[in-house]
Amino acid sequence: MIALGADHGGYKLKEAIKKYLDENKIKYTDFGTNDETSVDYAPIAAKVAHFVADGKAEKGILCCGTGIGMSIAANKVKGIRAAVCANAYCAEITRHHNDSNILCLGGRVINEEQAVEFTRLFLEAPFDGGRHQRRVDEIAAIERGEL
Ligand code: RB5
Repeated sequence: MIALGADHGGYKLKEAIKKYLDENKIKYTDFGTNDETSVDYAPIAAKVAHFVADGKAEKGILCCGTGIGMSIAANKVKGIRAAVCANAYCAEITRHHNDSNILCLGGRVINEEQAVEFTRLFLEAPFDGGRHQRRVDEIAAIERGEL
């Protein structure tokens, strides 16, 4: 299960990603928005982030104008490692190194084809563990106020 969310700036990317997920029979829950009418991104980021943090979805994808607002908001939820990615390398490596559980994309930064490519890379790439697990554990220690 993948959790999806977008504001007006990321709506078109979200729809392109849904088409890709449908074609590949990957289940998703869509938390909106449902058109290009202006809407605030933080409440949508919160819904997706809590859904992922609660274990109801394996990963999430959030789209806004830049991906930045969505990532800042999602990363406020404990257990979320949301990564803004504007190129394919970052979309893949953030899984290998950061065990990121939410991909954030910008509809004013990348096109729909790139959004689908980055989604595929993000969903398929595994976490490498090892020294990267120690670093992810250190991020969790920051959340607990221990670092
Ligand atoms: C909305 O205009 C825009 O600020 C939003 O989509 C996003 O880019 C924020 O980071």
